[in-house]
Formats: sequence, C-alpha cells, structure tokens
Amino acid sequence: MKSYKLNNEVEAFEFGSPLDTGALLEKGVPEKIHCNEEISLGKTTKLQFPLLPRDRIYGLGEHLGSINRRGRRFRSYCRDEANHTEDKNELYGAHNFFVHVKEQGLTGYFIDFPGEVVYDVGFQDDQKFTVEIHGKDFRLIKIPGNRMEEVVSRFLQVAGKAYIPPKWAFGYFQSRWGYKDLEEIKGVYERFQQEQIPLEGIYLDLDYMEDFKNFTVSKERFPEFGKFVRKLKNNGVYLVPIIDAGIKIEPDYDIYEEGIKGKHFCLNEEGAPYVAAVWPGKVHFPDFLQRETRQWFGEKYKFLTDLGIEGVWNDMNEPAIFYDEKNLEEAIDLASACRGKNLNVHKFFELKDTFANLLNDEDYHQRFYHRVQGKKQRHKDVHNLYGDYMTRAANYGLSKHLDKRFLLISRASSIGMHRYGGIWTGDNASWWTHLEENIRMMPSINMCGFYYIGADTGGFGGQCSGELLTRWLQFSAFTPLLRNHSALDTRPQEPYAFSEAVLENSRSIIKGRYRLIPYLYSTYMKAVENYQLFFKPLAFEYGGGYEEIEDQLLIGEEIMLAPIHKKHQSQRLVDLPERMALITVSEKATKITLAPAGPQRLSYDLDHLRFFLRENKMIPLGKSAANVSKLSVQELEVLAYVTDKAEHTFYDDDGISLENREKNLMKIIVEFQQDSYHIEVEKPHKELEVIRFTIIDNSGRIHRKSHEIKRKKSRNEPME
Ligand code: GLC
Repeated sequence: MKSYKLNNEVEAFEFGSPLDTGALLEKGVPEKIHCNEEISLGKTTKLQFPLLPRDRIYGLGEHLGSINRRGRRFRSYCRDEANHTEDKNELYGAHNFFVHVKEQGLTGYFIDFPGEVVYDVGFQDDQKFTVEIHGKDFRLIKIPGNRMEEVVSRFLQVAGKAYIPPKWAFGYFQSRWGYKDLEEIKGVYERFQQEQIPLEGIYLDLDYMEDFKNFTVSKERFPEFGKFVRKLKNNGVYLVPIIDAGIKIEPDYDIYEEGIKGKHFCLNEEGAPYVAAVWPGKVHFPDFLQRETRQWFGEKYKFLTDLGIEGVWNDMNEPAIFYDEKNLEEAIDLASACRGKNLNVHKFFELKDTFANLLNDEDYHQRFYHRVQGKKQRHKDVHNLYGDYMTRAANYGLSKHLDKRFLLISRASSIGMHRYGGIWTGDNASWWTHLEENIRMMPSINMCGFYYIGADTGGFGGQCSGELLTRWLQFSAFTPLLRNHSALDTRPQEPYAFSEAVLENSRSIIKGRYRLIPYLYSTYMKAVENYQLFFKPLAFEYGGGYEEIEDQLLIGEEIMLAPIHKKHQSQRLVDLPERMALITVSEKATKITLAPAGPQRLSYDLDHLRFFLRENKMIPLGKSAANVSKLSVQELEVLAYVTDKAEHTFYDDDGISLENREKNLMKIIVEFQQDSYHIEVEKPHKELEVIRFTIIDNSGRIHRKSHEIKRKKSRNEPME
C-alpha cells in the first residue's frame, strides 16, 4: 500500500494499482502514514466502521432517504432509475464521499473507485457500517476535522472547484418532453411573455432532433432553427437542447461514420463496436474514457454553438440501455416458446419479467469494453465514470467554441464531474414525497462538490397538481438550477396550465426568485470560491440536537428555509435554533418580523416566498425582471436583522466571463451604535446608486434607511 499526504491534513492510501479516475485535483506527496481503518482485501474489499448509538453518517450525494444516512443501504452505481420509489438504493449519481460524525470528532472519507460500491449504514446490524468496494484497486482518502464544514471544505479543496455556470443559468427555465415543434416552443415563449412570467429559457428535449440523432435538428419540425435561437437570445431567452449518450447506427449519418472510422465506440468481446438500443433503436456508445474520443465528441457540440446555443443537458449517460441484441433475442425465444402454452404463475412471471428486465439489465455492463490508458477495461469496472466523462467531453467542446461560460448539466455523474457541469436529479415524480426528497437531497449532493443542482420542479413523471407545483416552486426558488420539467403524456405543467390562482401565485414566486438572484448568485460564487457549502442541514451548523430536522435547510450564511412539502397545509412546524427574522418576499413587497427561538408554527401562503434571516445578517434583493439580462443592481433593497453588527460581502461580475472575470466585491456594514444604525458601504458595486435598508432590531422595531452612493465625478464630466 502506498500512502500520500494531500494538502490540509488530507491523507490518501492507495491499494493495488488504481486507475486514475480524475476525481481529485490533488495528487499528493508520498509519505508513510499508517491506515488504521478495518479493511479486508480480496476480490471485493470490505471496510468496516463500528457505529455507536449517537454516530451519524452524512454524504453519499444523490440518493433517496434521510440526510443522516443511518439505517439504510445504498449502492453507488449510476442507474437510469425512472421510478424513484422509497426502496431504491441507487440513482443516477455515484458520489463516494461521506462523513462519519462521532461524539469525539469527525472524519470524512472518499473512495476513489470507478466501479460499484455498496454501503450498509447500520442496516443489517445497527452497530456496523460496512462499505463494500467491488474491486481491490482503489484509493481511500481520509479527511480529519473538528467541524462538518471544515471536513467538507478540506475535501472540496482536494477535489477542486465546482463548475461555474453563467448568471443567466440562475433564471427560471421551462421544459417538457413532448414540445413537438418550433411552433410549440414559440407558443410557450409567447405565453410567458403574455402572462408576464419571467423566463430565462426553454429546454429542448429529444423532440428537436431528427430521428433521435445527436447533433441534428429536424428541418421539418424546427425550420430556421438558428434564426429562432438568436431571436430569442436577443430578448434574453436561451434554448437548451438535450444530447443523449448513444449514437444511432445509420450509414451516412456523419457522427456514426466518423465514430466507426475513428475507433471511438465501446467494443464488444470480439472487438467490434458494441450494439445496444436506446431512443433511436440500435446505437453505439462513444468511449468517453479515451481522450481522443472526448475531443472528437466535444468538437461536435460546435454544431450547436454555431446555431447560437450556449447551454446543453447531457442525458441517458449512465448509460441507459433499453435492450441489447442478446437479451432481446432470448426474450423473443422465450415468448415464442410460450406461444399456445398454458402458462402457470411461474411461467407467466418469468415471461413478464424477462421483458421488463431488458431495460437497464446490468449484464450488459459485462459485455462491453473501454480503452483506458491503453488498456482494455470492462465497462462494469469503470461504469461510474461514463456520464462524468461524457460531460467532460461536452465541457471541452463548449469551452473551446464559446469563449464564455455556458450552462451544462448531466444526469449521470461521479465526483470529479463537479468541476465540469451541474446535475439535475433525474426522473422524479409529481409526488409530495419527492418534493421532500428534493429538499433532503440538496445538501448531500452539495457536499460531494456539486453546486449547480436542482430537481425537476413539479415532478417529471405523474400528474402534478397546481398546489404541488406552487409549493415546489417555493422551494426551487432557492436552488441554483430552477427548471420545471415534465414527461411525455403527463398533464401540462407550465404555470399557466392550471387555474388562474396557480398562475398568479407561480408568477409571484418566480418574480420573487428574480429578486433573489443577486443574492443567490453572490452566495453561489462565494461558496464555490471559498469551498463552503451552499446548502446545509441544521445539524451541520447547530450540532447533534438538530439532527432530526431534515426539512429545514440553511442557505449560505444568512438564510434558513422551512418549505411546505405536504398537501393541503397552510402551516408547518418549524424549529428555530436561534432567534431569527421572518421574511416574506413577493414581487414588490417585502415584510420582516421577528421570530423567537424554539419550535413554532409557521404560516406559509401560496403566493409568496417565506424564509428566515439569521441574527446579524442581511440579504440584498434586487428588482424582478423579465430575465437575467434585464436585472440590475442600481437599486438594492437590503433586509437586515441586526442586534450588534452585520457585515455582508456582496459578490457580482458580468455573469459570463471565465477566469478573467472582473469581480465586484462590495462590503455592506450595518452597525447598531448609540440607539441608531450606522451604515457603511465599501467598494460599492459600479452600477449601484442606492440601497434601501429595512433593519429589524431585537424588539421587532423596523428602521428604514436609505444609502445613496456618492461617486466622485470623473474629470471629463461637466460640473453641475
Ligand atoms: C430521460 C430524462 C428526461 C427526458 C427524457 C426524454 O428520461 O431523464 O429528463 O425528458 O429522457 O429525453
């Protein structure tokens, strides 16, 4: 075993000869360190941790269930899991970072391994936490620390900074599988304008392609597509098309032909391109683990950027497989053998299950191969890297062809990909429980390095009600990625597809989101830059006494959310770990009152955003706008709860430049001195003219103050 010291006390232990997965940025310096974990090596490797009654396990990213992972099994193996029922142990992401919180201190662990890892977090035996790594070549990273944020921050420092989307990616996006042509997309755009609902963009699902072929646009259904893309963009509205992992097998389809010639596809046992089936029927999968293939595929995104596209979503990249030839043949043979037979229960279920199990059967993963660093590698053993490396390919191409930031999200992911794109949480459903899952999932995913995250608001599958959409919007208004997306053949889910009241409430919430964008963007950028979390459960900040509260989240340093996630509720129980101010935001109005520490009932109507502001903190709000291009920070409204002194750093930039961005870092200070509030604004934002403060004090009294920015006139300007 080799060991290394990475920066900040982080230790790395190398077992066997692990593949360089590219998960971490830091390689480390060799150093002899003792590994005192209980590890049994073999064909599969077992790590065993004793669990004491008060121990907690946090992390593991995109999974269902509680934030504290105790009492459940999880499998880290990217899976196209369209039916997220409570018992599902794996979803689309493989995020092998967790923190073991004990009475005396905490330790973070990252398992750098590209294949299957199974976690039994006190499920079989509530006093044991077992990690089963399906291989013997891996790296174990160990991160000590005294506080949760310290451990996570150290991990994020070795994993590298998260992907930074453009500012416009923080707007509201409408999406739907089944917008069949350009006319329909145009209709959605116009309806948003007509109803005066802010709209940042429309996601284009696979309906825009020609026969489900990547990097094509149907000429018939989407004529003059490039012109349309640019027209919308001139009004600040973006189109974000989907790209799927499989390449249709079709002679004369350029991507297919090039892929064959360039040896870019994954191979079967015999060394021929592996055939699987997804949307278009038979496809080959690009071997994203080869650098040349990533470059080749990445270049293809130029087709989209040439049309004016600046954002893409990568899908079906676990990869999802409907069937492969072998299993389909076997299923058909079985069905033929059943013809005319009297099928008893066993035979009938065998027949039924054989067809049902064609979808995403993991046997397929044994049948195709990658070429990794010159070596043939069975897909099964590197499975979790596939979506990750597809996204790296997209990032390569988009970075090359757009000299600015772009929106990029992926469905499958593993740690490392967080540097290249964001994720959405896949095919959830229009269920109230999935709104709650969304709330719980955000901090666990964020811990694993991903910041540009969100779920399909309103739910992807199933039938959404107006009430569910509204409540979901009230939560998603705080997630960096805000997209309302729904599946083919479900009821329409746009804000205007319900009653007049739902339309009004959604409009008000989305406008509230736009008022929050300056704050959310600033918080996002500061969190990424400083390796801090954007989302935190209460226990991370206030300790074990709050471990059971998992439906209240902290955002940045300032805000606590307590969303309603149950049907027919206008109130909910909320537990305040400290005294806070309660804030209500709608399009034009804001309200601030005091809320005492402790459990209490919070009333939360459907037509606004409601959240808490912590003591000696403030948040800036802007004015709502039709989209981000029209947002301005000329006038800010700052809501503050100050009993002593509050300092806030407000970050801003042009929202599109890359590394060379010019950063505005404005410091706002509000201090209570001799019975009144003293305000200072250092390095005012260059657009800022006035800040209107609403400050609440400890007795609940409101103080309003206006602070104008006096700028020295430049010499060229005439004197007044
Ligand atoms: C997958 C995606 C979903 C998309 C659908 C059709 O199920 O997760 O978002 O709408 O494919 O492309």
